[in-house]
Amino acid sequence: MTRHFLDVDDLSCDELDLVLATASLPVAEVPKVLAGRGAALVFEKPSARTRSSTELAVVALGGHPVYIQGAEVGIDDREAAEDVARTLACYHAVLCGRVLDHQVLVRMAGALDTASTAAEAEARRDDDALEPVSVPAPVPVVNLLSDRAHPCQALADLMTLRQVFGEVEGLTIAYIGDANNVWRSLALAAAMTGIHVRTASPEGYEPDADDLARVARLGGDIEVTSDPAEAATGADALYTDVWTSMGQEEEQELRRHAFAGFTIDEELLGRAAPDAVVLHCLPAHRGEEITAAVLEGPRSVVWRQAANRMHAVRGLLAWLLGPGGGGPR
Ligand code: CP
Ligand code: NVA
Repeated sequence: MTRHFLDVDDLSCDELDLVLATASLPVAEVPKVLAGRGAALVFEKPSARTRSSTELAVVALGGHPVYIQGAEVGIDDREAAEDVARTLACYHAVLCGRVLDHQVLVRMAGALDTASTAAEAEARRDDDALEPVSVPAPVPVVNLLSDRAHPCQALADLMTLRQVFGEVEGLTIAYIGDANNVWRSLALAAAMTGIHVRTASPEGYEPDADDLARVARLGGDIEVTSDPAEAATGADALYTDVWTSMGQEEEQELRRHAFAGFTIDEELLGRAAPDAVVLHCLPAHRGEEITAAVLEGPRSVVWRQAANRMHAVRGLLAWLLGPGGGGPR
């Protein structure tokens, strides 16, 4: 059965631990699970961190990344998402996508689940490196950000918290801002590792009942408030993301007004625990969700967090394409 990584809870808690442990290994000790294989990286949205970190992770695993702009393959425009996935699966060992609509990844994963038989997969294993095969293989789909989730970011966030605090179980993160894709994956990752999440969002931008139920099923506990000060008080980490995500640009003015007062500034940070750290997935908008002083300040771990994106995705791919994730393929 092909494993996919569309959100953090596609992994069990033990698997998540394993992925994070693999992410922390020296590169030389990570199996070259992509040796001579291709990795398709389809981007329907821009990226600074995700593209570079994933490309380099693929290279570190012995593979060959192929960056594909959304317009080039034209998902559901030039060609159905399922056909794009099946085609890329003829050449690549993994299909990674940053998409406008999360359902596109779900459909791609579904198409690949039914794409081929075990015998075909077996035949593909015998092929020479990088040689195309005549049938799609059951390759995994990895979410590099969708409107619903950003699980590779959450892996790097957990790695960062582990590096800073050692044990993360029992920590409290105060997330200030939009309960968006980044929030959702972070909340799932937190639930799976025993981290409490307090969420402060303006009305209309808070977690919905489905999100809270999903987190609760994982044993997580989310406190929801509309008061950033209440959320931040005594927290071990403050986390924020942009007020306007990619694809929401026409709501920018509306959101600027709605999120006024939801800025992580020095006063808010002063309410957190004395050794609290500040996380931001980046890109950051200084003066909106975070002040320059906090972003550049001594409690900010955002660059470590950005650096961990590469280690995290390398750990994920090594696991996904190794025996644990159902590989080698
Ligand atoms: N944090 C993150 O995903 O950054 P990019 O959008 O630049 O990839
Ligand atoms: N929520 C942001 C995250 C960017 C990494 C977005 O989707 O644009």
